[in-house]
Amino acid sequence: MTRILGIETSCDETSAAVLEGAGDDVRVRSLVILSQDVHRVFGGVVPEIASRAHLTAIVPVVEQALADSGSNDVDAVAVTNAPGLVGALLVGVAFGKAFAFARQVPMIGVHHMEGHLFATVLEDAAAVPPFTALLVSGGHTLLIDVEAWGRYRLLGRTRDDAAGEAFDKVAKLLGLPYPGGPHVERIAALATTPGAQDRPRGGALRFARPMLRRDQRPGDAEYYDVSFSGLKTAVLNAVKASPSEADRAPIARAFQDAVVDTLVEKTARAAHAYRRRRVVLGGGVACNGALVSAMRERFARDGVDVFAPTPRLATDNAAMIARAGLFHLERGERSGLDLNAFAAMPIPGLVAA
Ligand code: KG4
Ligand code: ZN
Repeated sequence: MTRILGIETSCDETSAAVLEGAGDDVRVRSLVILSQDVHRVFGGVVPEIASRAHLTAIVPVVEQALADSGSNDVDAVAVTNAPGLVGALLVGVAFGKAFAFARQVPMIGVHHMEGHLFATVLEDAAAVPPFTALLVSGGHTLLIDVEAWGRYRLLGRTRDDAAGEAFDKVAKLLGLPYPGGPHVERIAALATTPGAQDRPRGGALRFARPMLRRDQRPGDAEYYDVSFSGLKTAVLNAVKASPSEADRAPIARAFQDAVVDTLVEKTARAAHAYRRRRVVLGGGVACNGALVSAMRERFARDGVDVFAPTPRLATDNAAMIARAGLFHLERGERSGLDLNAFAAMPIPGLVAA
């Protein structure tokens, strides 16, 4: 059994966690997440401010995680080293190295998106491979077939904006605060019927589903990929056409419906093609209740189980990093004190479809 410290500083959360266990039997002993609220003032994450805030927070956050876990001892350290804001990542990486060196324990660098794949299993032991994974965060939209831990096949990705990024930009267009996802969801829920009643021809407001033609076949370049920038433009045009406050709800609803429909269909294609019985969601957009219900509804008829993490583990956190790190350590992998931070990097073990 290993007690592992996880550290996550890739974007605007300073997080530390202590996990204990082996194989697929792992418990979260503590999890501290400090969200950098300051970026709200700027309507988005300011990299230099994020780095400085991580510097201020990293020591107390780790100390709190150790204290909450009931013991100061750990056998290993896992730290996010890619992808993300390099200055932000470096704070965690530098801390992780110093900690590992001082305590003479092994350290492992973890890919942030691989961490998201491991978040759900911390809450539900059944969320293990093989499964179809949909990772939807502020920076990434990835559809991955997970044959086993460490064996990943990239099926689809976004051609432009990430799903979370689309929610954030649409929130801005609707005059809602950053980060916009939860606000768009809240406003969309106010639209009882999709679309305003006084639309031309009386129809509900509906946006085109990007990259979603029913005649697409496996092997088509667009079969699994998504694209959200056109949808964003459609929202902009709708806002210009009806600037009244009352129209915000139907617009938010029509946008969310289009995103959800697209993500559900692409995920269903992947699960079907690889005959998976489980679908695992991850990333901040997996907090979206409409997305999770639509997934469950779509897959219920096929007897496929849909797993979604609770918001605390769906968004950025160090528990998922520790969990992914433990997997790699158990395979005998180690990072040296020359571990570096990278803005972009492929997930280890990921092959193209
Ligand atoms: O995974 P995450 O915490 O950070 C990244 O790694 O990017 O994801 C943050 C993203 C933001 O774009 C945020 O607007 C979105 O997740 N998000 C949501 C919801 N809650 C957070 N999007 C839609 N509906 C939500 N309820
Ligand atoms: Zn993330």
